Amino acid sequence: MIQKTREQFIHLFEKEPLMVVSPGRINLIGEHTDYNDGFVLPAAIDKKIVYAIALNNTQQCNAHAVFTNETVSFSLADVKPTPGWINYLMGVVNQLQERGLPVQGFDCVISGDIPVGAGMSSSAAIEGGLVAALDHLFGYGLDRMQMALIGQKAEHTFPGVKCGIMDQFANLHGKKDQVMRLDCRSLEFEYFPFNFPGYKVVLCNSMVHHSLASSEYNVRRLQCEEGVKAIQANHPAVKSLRDADMKMLNEVRDQISAKVYDRCNYVIAEIQRVQDATTLLKQGNLQQFGELMYATHEGLSKLYEVSCPELDFLVSLARQREEVAGARVMGGGFGGCTINLVKAEKVTEYVAFIKSRYQDQYGKEPEVYVTTIEEGVTVQPLAVSY
Ligand code: GLA
Repeated sequence: MIQKTREQFIHLFEKEPLMVVSPGRINLIGEHTDYNDGFVLPAAIDKKIVYAIALNNTQQCNAHAVFTNETVSFSLADVKPTPGWINYLMGVVNQLQERGLPVQGFDCVISGDIPVGAGMSSSAAIEGGLVAALDHLFGYGLDRMQMALIGQKAEHTFPGVKCGIMDQFANLHGKKDQVMRLDCRSLEFEYFPFNFPGYKVVLCNSMVHHSLASSEYNVRRLQCEEGVKAIQANHPAVKSLRDADMKMLNEVRDQISAKVYDRCNYVIAEIQRVQDATTLLKQGNLQQFGELMYATHEGLSKLYEVSCPELDFLVSLARQREEVAGARVMGGGFGGCTINLVKAEKVTEYVAFIKSRYQDQYGKEPEVYVTTIEEGVTVQPLAVSY
């Protein structure tokens, strides 16, 4: 894909591009915890966005997307929220401009194999790839966390999703065969080997297209803030659900709606689960780690209400199989993928089982991806031979 993208760029723009590979991500556990100052356990994967990009000495940006086969242009003097994938590029450019970093025109070709709306964070990959490319081309000297924060802010201001930092962080900090535990409050992080030898991370795509921007994601965030506000009346030191416990939440049960109670209940438990899961991962305790994944799914489905019948069905299929240690809906939810830890030698059998049962139930075939854990965004300087 890298070579093809480069060739297409040379064909369209007649010069040699900089190549940037920008991965999607998985998250083993810790969902909807990032914007509550909690912990997450993500990793970058082999699904990716590829950029071929070069400066063009104008004030115009031209981007060709291989997945839609269209070329879109915008002027640096007119960067504003615009429908379509170009919004992610413009959001990043806007953030760089806002920070007073010099941006000049560029040409790029973008290709990729991250399914859109499947919970693997194609949008963070588009954002992170562009920030890293422009950082290289203009020599801004940004560190990876600054780049992640730029991507996150771009997502807030242009597509309007008030996301946490997990996706942009994972996209830019991934390391081969390592998962990361990020403290979303202090932004400190640690790498751990994916310590479950003989197991694969398998993603089952429900093919239900999620749309985080369609407001439900932002509603969840507001509900968490509502819970924090109620708790703060008794406990002023509580700044986010990270600081809260079930006792504090129960004190205000009568003052908040049942939905807000459920949302906070889930988040408080999930923040603790990530801590426990990290210990289990270090110990290589696959079985209990898997149980925590199922518990997360239960919470996401019943309390946080970001699952859907198709995802619940996929998790119920996983539960029937002894080769699966754990499974749950991954990412923002409302559709997209489940993440499954599956015994390597049984993966083929499992994939066939999922496909046939899902087809029987819903009349459509789910895509299934057996992933590997890879490096975060990589910038490949000019004159590399592929
Ligand atoms: C989306 C957001 C992330 C995170 C997850 C849920 O992927 O972009 O910040 O909140 O949902 O864990």
